[in-house]
Amino acid sequence: MSVSVICPGSFDPVTLGHLDVFERAAATYDRVVVAVVGNPSKSGMFDVDERIAMIEAELSGVDNVEVIAHQGLLVELCRDRGIMTLCKGLRSVGDFEYELQMAQMNRHLAGVETVFMATAPAHAHISSSLVKEIAKAGGPVTGLVPDAVERALAARVA
Ligand code: PNS
Repeated sequence: MSVSVICPGSFDPVTLGHLDVFERAAATYDRVVVAVVGNPSKSGMFDVDERIAMIEAELSGVDNVEVIAHQGLLVELCRDRGIMTLCKGLRSVGDFEYELQMAQMNRHLAGVETVFMATAPAHAHISSSLVKEIAKAGGPVTGLVPDAVERALAARVA
């Protein structure tokens, strides 16, 4: 039996923590779809196509991962793809409270299951929002995001 999962998120921008989860998911499951979820009412620092390109560049050596854009309910993507399992990274108890509610809602809406992958301790403090805040203030984001993302952030805030 082949098992596929969807890793959803905003990924604005992708961090080393996200990439670690994608790579571990790819080592655990047969196929991984990374879904970059765009929010039409909230413009990010990077547009969805830019976010996808950054993730694809980092995962070029991982052949069972596909990176796609999605708008709207996640359960619709799950139904369209016939992939009824989400895989998400979990950093902390704070994440857990929010993630548990979403997991239960997605199960309520469409029977979609969520599996949580514990974030590597080295990445537990990393979030896209903090990365953006630091970059906007001219601080260093080395060790939080890939080098190419670091360069893209510097160019965007310049
Ligand atoms: O990286 P983020 O911002 O924590 O990801 C949150 C995301 C995109 C996974 C969540 O907002 C989401 O699932 N959005 C799609 C819309 C949806 O299905 N909403 C109902 C969630 S129960």
